[in-house]
Amino acid sequence: MEVKNICCIGAGYVGGPTMTMIAAKCPSIRVNVVDINEARIAAWNDPNVDNIPIYEPGLSELVAETRGRNLFFTTEVNKAITEADMIFISVNTPTKTYGVGKGMAADLKYIELCARQIASVAKSDKIIVEKSTLPVRTAEALRSILDNTGNGVNFDILSNPEFLAEGTAVSDLLNPDRVLIGGEDTERGRAAQQALVDVYSNWVPKDQILTTNVWSSELSKLTANAFLAQRVSSINALSELCEVTEADIGEVARAIGSDSRIGSKFLKASVGFGGSCFQKDILNLVYIAQSYGLKEVADYWEQVIIMNDHQKRRFAKKIVKTLFNTVSGKKIAILGWAFKKDTNDTRESAAIYVADYLLNEQAEVVIYDPKVTVDQIYSDLDYLGTRSSQENRNLLKVVNDPMEAVNNAHATAILTEWDEFIDYDWETINDKMLKPAFLFDGRRILDENKLKDLGFDFYGIGKG
Ligand code: UDX
Ligand code: ADP
Repeated sequence: MEVKNICCIGAGYVGGPTMTMIAAKCPSIRVNVVDINEARIAAWNDPNVDNIPIYEPGLSELVAETRGRNLFFTTEVNKAITEADMIFISVNTPTKTYGVGKGMAADLKYIELCARQIASVAKSDKIIVEKSTLPVRTAEALRSILDNTGNGVNFDILSNPEFLAEGTAVSDLLNPDRVLIGGEDTERGRAAQQALVDVYSNWVPKDQILTTNVWSSELSKLTANAFLAQRVSSINALSELCEVTEADIGEVARAIGSDSRIGSKFLKASVGFGGSCFQKDILNLVYIAQSYGLKEVADYWEQVIIMNDHQKRRFAKKIVKTLFNTVSGKKIAILGWAFKKDTNDTRESAAIYVADYLLNEQAEVVIYDPKVTVDQIYSDLDYLGTRSSQENRNLLKVVNDPMEAVNNAHATAILTEWDEFIDYDWETINDKMLKPAFLFDGRRILDENKLKDLGFDFYGIGKG
């Protein structure tokens, strides 16, 4: 079967870039991306492509090429479902904030709503593709809803998790290490799987397209994120040991990363990992293990999160301790709010937790980030619920100019590894700051010796 019309439900960080790439590489397929969030769709349709809602290097150029040709963003969900042969579900699956599994399990209400909507609208057979990260065996629930509430049409369910990392979405989509497609082991299931293999084959070499059963595919996505996060927590755990032993975590990472069995990627010590996936997916894995009674498995993976929370708190505590055990009334500049460079996404960013800790210590916190909006920063803090939104606005300032952030600051902390921070005129920054000028590099992007020569009291994570 040849796919001619794709509908993607959810125009977020996964759905938006992925569908843009499919549209770019498959000009004969019409791709409709739908979302219930009207403002988000309006932003995707903004005549000025620089205003699309997601910042990713190279994305706006691709949108300019494809939008209106075979890529369309719309809020007409039912129409797009009706026309489609294949429907991707790319809605959000946040950690549950209520009821059973609160704080751990994935909240599948948006997925279920999609399934019910597809079932009630579809008048012809559809291939349904799980794109969002989902707990293993979600396809079972999807199948049950689709078959029991549908109009008697056939639904084939595939799992096709997205492995792109934010900040490098376009190049990850262009040259994926692998594409994973899980399908049901029936004649229809295999045909559906082949239809999606054919879509990706337009640009991905065949031997990089892996086909598995649905459950392996669902579980592999959770596991891939758990393994990556585990590496970050492992190197971060060692960063603390380095700080008390005069070892240097950068040197340790280089030494162990040269072992081809370990490999050099994902060994950068940091103030803690963030992003929408790692914490959520590990909590989900822990919850699944617990629900099967596998306590040791659950505890093993939970430690990755415990270590990450410790790292964020440890960094904030270090600032307070270094500043003579008090930051009350002291101005502290934070450079970077996004959870990593080259994205405007702030979900689970370490900066949120560090700022919250410092605000509890009554510091005057000033934030600068090149891509994150003021509203986003306040809404991230408000979401934590530590203090009222008015208090957050009184205590924390957001500025557009990094020089304003550091002016008269007691300390500057780098929490995102934006390239522009490396190129700053640190001599001028030192001049503007109060003395002693404390500099905390939570990403190890700056040259420690140079900054010490400039007179900074420098603290880089993972070095004694
Ligand atoms: C991750 C996975 O990489 C991706 O495959 C999956 O589809 C979604 O989750 P993402 O969250 O976008 O992608 O970013 P990633 O590059 O994995 O970084 C996650 C966090 O770990 C960031 O906060 C990053 O700064 C941190 N990190 C990463 C480190 O602290 N050290 C490292 O060495 C690598
Ligand atoms: P991700 O990082 O997984 O892409 P996002 O939160 O960026 O997550 O995007 C998910 C999108 O899905 C949001 O824009 C949200 O409005 C949209 N969405 C959620 N439920 C539905 C639904 N039932 N129909 C259409 N869009 C939905």
